[in-house]
Amino acid sequence: MSLHRSIAEARERVSAAQINDAASLENFRLEFLSRKGLLTRLFEEFKSVPSSEKALVGKALNDLKKAAEEKFKAAQASVAAPRATPQASDWTLPGDAYVLGSRHPVSIVERKVVDIFSRIGFRVEEGPEIETDYYNFTALNFEDDHPAREMQDTFFLDAKKEYLLRTHTSPVQVRVMKSQKPPIRMIAPGRVYRNETVTARSHCYFQQVEGLVVDERASFADLRQTLNYFVAAMFGPKVKVRLRPSYFPFTEISAEADISCLLCDGRGCPVCKHTGWVEIMGCGMVDPAVLTHCGLDPERYQGYAFGFGIERMALVLYRIPDIRLYSQNDVRFLSRFQTL
Ligand code: PHE
Repeated sequence: MSLHRSIAEARERVSAAQINDAASLENFRLEFLSRKGLLTRLFEEFKSVPSSEKALVGKALNDLKKAAEEKFKAAQASVAAPRATPQASDWTLPGDAYVLGSRHPVSIVERKVVDIFSRIGFRVEEGPEIETDYYNFTALNFEDDHPAREMQDTFFLDAKKEYLLRTHTSPVQVRVMKSQKPPIRMIAPGRVYRNETVTARSHCYFQQVEGLVVDERASFADLRQTLNYFVAAMFGPKVKVRLRPSYFPFTEISAEADISCLLCDGRGCPVCKHTGWVEIMGCGMVDPAVLTHCGLDPERYQGYAFGFGIERMALVLYRIPDIRLYSQNDVRFLSRFQTL
């Protein structure tokens, strides 16, 4: 076993050895690695180790050899390398180019929407993407047998159909009305989910922005003016807004807003399906039943609300024909968009 001890000692000496110039490097070589060095002597002794111990001692010896050789090589490289001096670098060489990322088109449009509404006093609110049936439907005045509750639209998360992925951002209206006192002026951007087949025109998730104003006086005319202001800021002053009667369980009266088609100036093209108009949002006066549900007296308060999809707006602004492009993460697509 004394050979084993010599090996252990040698290992310590190897790791303690200081090599900082050519002379100490040569000393190290002579001491450990040369033909008359320590390692050669230890290998010589190894020959007389009883065969029962050969495996153990042999491994220790090989490890020692490897450690010494590696130390020698590393030291050789650093001793041999010429010292880099400041004068050796060429400061006139061009630097490495930084590749800058770009914002996702959906983020660009969403930021612009938030910016436009912030200017007229709308606060940004958020709600959870996992919602309960109560906030997504019941509190918004959906009848129990309303078709939107059926499986084809909603991703339910439990067998009792109590939890779901929100199908719109309107549940944020309910959360805000229940937790804040009017006057309320808010927008709520966020992701929504629908159990739909993914095609060029529809996707199982997308981004919406909800808008809600509740005050002692909030009229349909105020809603219309707000939309006029928004459309002019978003799409330019020449774009026209048109409201068509519609239906939502949580608004009364309800409307759908169209804008004159930006791509063909209203003359007719595939994007507006040759009608000259592109539908951009749903809106209306908050149904008194919803106000009551949220603890607000409909005799005292009125409200208007609107909701729209970001991808649809990006389609009009950037002429993106296929909604699937937004979620494919192809940098050739993503890097084309400049901040609006
Ligand atoms: N939540 C409706 C939808 O997803 C849009 C909407 C919001 C309509 C607010 C009216 C008022 O289609």
